[in-house]
Amino acid sequence: MNRLANKVAIVTGGARGMGAETCRLFVQEGARVVIADVLERDGQALARKLGEAACYHRLDVSDEANWQQLAEQTIERFGRIDVLVNNAAVLVFGAITDLSTGEFERALSINLLGTFLGIRAVAPLMQAQRAGSIVNISSVDGMRGVNAFPAYVASKWGVRGLTKAAALELGHHGVRVNSVHPGGMNTQMANPRGLTADELNKDYRQVPLQRIGEPVEISRAILFLASDEASYCNGSELTVDGGMVAGAYYPGLPGAPF
Ligand SMILES: NC(=O)c1ccc[n+]([C@@H]2O[C@H](COP(=O)([O-])OP(=O)(O)OC[C@H]3O[C@@H](n4cnc5c(N)ncnc54)[C@H](O)[C@@H]3O)[C@@H](O)[C@H]2O)c1
Repeated sequence: MNRLANKVAIVTGGARGMGAETCRLFVQEGARVVIADVLERDGQALARKLGEAACYHRLDVSDEANWQQLAEQTIERFGRIDVLVNNAAVLVFGAITDLSTGEFERALSINLLGTFLGIRAVAPLMQAQRAGSIVNISSVDGMRGVNAFPAYVASKWGVRGLTKAAALELGHHGVRVNSVHPGGMNTQMANPRGLTADELNKDYRQVPLQRIGEPVEISRAILFLASDEASYCNGSELTVDGGMVAGAYYPGLPGAPF
């Protein structure tokens, strides 16, 4: 309790999935939270559920003017911005030879440009406070290649790289910037057909923990990096993936479960 007492946080893509879970956990830990998302109905419903400590703000992360308004209105309402979680993203499907320029650009403009615009919108305020924590949600796909999702992979590697540059530029102002790298998580993005965890887990035999992750398991990692407990973490990358990027099993050899 109260690990984020007196802190004001913005969570992009906060209306559903891991973003929504993060908003819930942040409020539970004493933060006031701005749920920033294009999904107005879901965002407003979550804000009502979370009560006075939360509000919804319509934000398209790829829109520079939207960010300006969000930063201004957050300061007007809460007086400061301590935490930014750049979580909003889209999963764009299609092999390189099939992918249109527009689809590739859509992934980059929401996932990568959106993260850049977010950092740029809050950095001057955090620098002036000489304190702040920015948590960028990348992916295990920001650490490896994956077929069928080249635009998403490129955007998530970009988020990881941008995090390092921002950690250098903002660190000496007292602002920490870190990235989180989820593995497969049970949200609409990775489970659009709403399969049960048991059904999904059949595809996770290769992952050392042999199961999909639940949104709160990412939110807890975000909470740590957002809080003062992570006071010496800057430019770090935290995988929360059940061991997915650690490696894959050689079936039948010692140490493998199958
Ligand atoms: N689900 C997974 O398996 C997985 C794995 C690794 C990383 N991630 C990352 O975790 C983060 C959260 O994903 P999720 O699984 O909760 O997905 P989700 O699709 O459930 O949620 C994404 C949220 O982002 C919002 N969003 C999309 N475009 C936006 C825009 N232009 N402006 C503002 N908001 C926008 C959506 O409305 C939605 O609320 C993403 O960055 C995703 O890439 C997810």
